[in-house]
Amino acid sequence: MSVTDIMRFIGNTPILELTRIRPFNNCRLLVKLEYFNPTGSHKDRIALYMVKSAIEKYGLKEGDIVVEASSGNTAISVTFIAKRFGLIPIIVVPKATSVNKVRLLKLMGAEVVFGNEDPSSPNYYLKLAEDIAKERGGVFLNQYANPANVRAHYETTAVEIWNQLNGSIDCFVMGVGTGGTITGVGRYLKERKRDVVIVAVTPKGSKLAGGPGIDRIEGLLHKDIAPLLDRSIIDKVIEVPYSEALDMSLRLVRDEGVLGGISSGANIVGALKISKELEPRSTIVTLIVDSIFRYIDLLEQNIMM
Ligand SMILES: Cc1ncc(COP(=O)(O)O)c(C=O)c1O
Repeated sequence: MSVTDIMRFIGNTPILELTRIRPFNNCRLLVKLEYFNPTGSHKDRIALYMVKSAIEKYGLKEGDIVVEASSGNTAISVTFIAKRFGLIPIIVVPKATSVNKVRLLKLMGAEVVFGNEDPSSPNYYLKLAEDIAKERGGVFLNQYANPANVRAHYETTAVEIWNQLNGSIDCFVMGVGTGGTITGVGRYLKERKRDVVIVAVTPKGSKLAGGPGIDRIEGLLHKDIAPLLDRSIIDKVIEVPYSEALDMSLRLVRDEGVLGGISSGANIVGALKISKELEPRSTIVTLIVDSIFRYIDLLEQNIMM
């Protein structure tokens, strides 16, 4: 039977147990492969939820505008979903966004506007997105404050993990960007199993870890803490240096054949670190958030190939 709506391929991603990259204490490490989503990341889930909720709340119809501020996976996912509903996506990106990403967004049909990454600038990209939405009568989706982000992970990612493992999960590890994934998945798991350990992964010295926020891993927040993040469900924060995340993403590709991106490498580093503190034979789950294809330039610049 064929399926005529590509959005039906969002979610229901596979879970793989790693066999070469082994945690301590005989723990098992399972990874949910989110690059199996249509545009290659977990953000397809939230883009679908945020756009649908905007359509319901504001009665959007074909030709109406949705605006998002993002330079990464969410920009691509929002463009993909908006086009499916006949909406016009306007994506505000920081000026430093890679040329290839901007080209891809344009190819996919987005209108791309350049903003500034400095919050004190009048053209700060999040503020600019809000202004554009007002001026052009569109809806600013704002993944950093949109409850549909958390809901997507609570209702889909978490339920899938729970069902795929028949509830046998002891620890969930996830890098924190908007906090949508860890909050949605963590909340669901804790409601079903109170002692499941929820671990937040963050760049070394980030604000979340109480530091100045110098080290940077694309997709994870380093200088701010997103308002959606529910810190009450987090048991432990693990800091990961950028260089370790990078090395691990290469190990993932070469040793396991898992073509994950750099924040996925950080998730694995976090999982290995927490395994030292878990009961023997615990089951740890994390996400392979997106794919290495988004980071070829970065990897080439940083690693002797
Ligand atoms: C590559 C990457 N990793 C991790 C995350 C973190 O996910 P969340 O925003 O749900 O915290 C993001 C989010 O932007 C991302 O793009």
